[in-house]
Amino acid sequence: MEEKIFGKRFVGQVALVTGAAKGIGEACALRFAKEGANVALLDFDDANNEKAAAACRAQGVEALAIHCDVSSKESVQAAVDQVMQKWGRIDAVVASAGVYSGLMLPDVTLAQWQRTIDINLTGVFLTNQAVAPILMKQKSGSIVNISSMAGKTSWPSSAEYSASKSGVIGLTRSVAVELAPYGVTCNAICPGNTLTDMVRNVAALVGGRDGLNAEEWLAMRAKDSPAQRLAEPWEIGGVATFLASNDARYLNGQALEVDGGMVMS
Ligand SMILES: NC(=O)c1ccc[n+]([C@@H]2O[C@H](COP(=O)([O-])OP(=O)(O)OC[C@H]3O[C@@H](n4cnc5c(N)ncnc54)[C@H](O)[C@@H]3O)[C@@H](O)[C@H]2O)c1
Repeated sequence: MEEKIFGKRFVGQVALVTGAAKGIGEACALRFAKEGANVALLDFDDANNEKAAAACRAQGVEALAIHCDVSSKESVQAAVDQVMQKWGRIDAVVASAGVYSGLMLPDVTLAQWQRTIDINLTGVFLTNQAVAPILMKQKSGSIVNISSMAGKTSWPSSAEYSASKSGVIGLTRSVAVELAPYGVTCNAICPGNTLTDMVRNVAALVGGRDGLNAEEWLAMRAKDSPAQRLAEPWEIGGVATFLASNDARYLNGQALEVDGGMVMS
């Protein structure tokens, strides 16, 4: 599938994206840049984050690659402060930073459980909490939290991941109702399998356990979706920018499946 851009909906606006160095976060950051927004890219993978920021700048906007560990309150607050010092406003926020261990339940140590929750759930909470006072003061803005279809359904080797992603949906609803009176929306996206390093790593690990190579495992997963294919990262970025756009001002507290029709609710 090919990305098509029909206009620049975010000129003069500022988008903040966590997990922006790679995959879905990178695609979201680039899509905001293509549509005219200045972009703050937060990630702890500095080398890839700088490359992603350079790709945004190539679209003719300003972009800042900011070192940030979303599981640290101080790190998230410092990054948000840096964005406010640079541009003085934040219009769209995408919380995409996340990890997936692929471990079966008996193998999930308490430390592994804690790490996944710290990044996938606490990281989203800290990001939402740090930007909330700014958006409330502005009386405008959108938050898009990246959950997963694993937040609504599950499969083997997803215990801590599914728990964290269901938590993101509950958090999103709560933030949505608290911020709605200020004209701020908060929604979640639940992507299906999307072609990123995360899913390629899962394919190697989980596929190996099933006696399949990574390509065979990915082909099998593609058939799980009525679309008969995996998502491209830009297809998630397209929905994230829609949720941050003027067209979605009355869309709030939802967890949208973007999985080719795999999970329907
Ligand atoms: N790829 C998929 O199939 C899929 C499906 C559903 C949901 N998701 C979710 O989408 C989000 C992005 O996944 P992806 O596939 O792009 O993964 P990815 O591994 O390609 O990218 C994740 C990014 O998050 C960053 N990150 C991880 N921990 C961080 C931390 N503590 N602080 C700052 N940055 C951190 C990584 O450095 C990386 O740049 C995740 O939340 C993931 O759970 C992915």
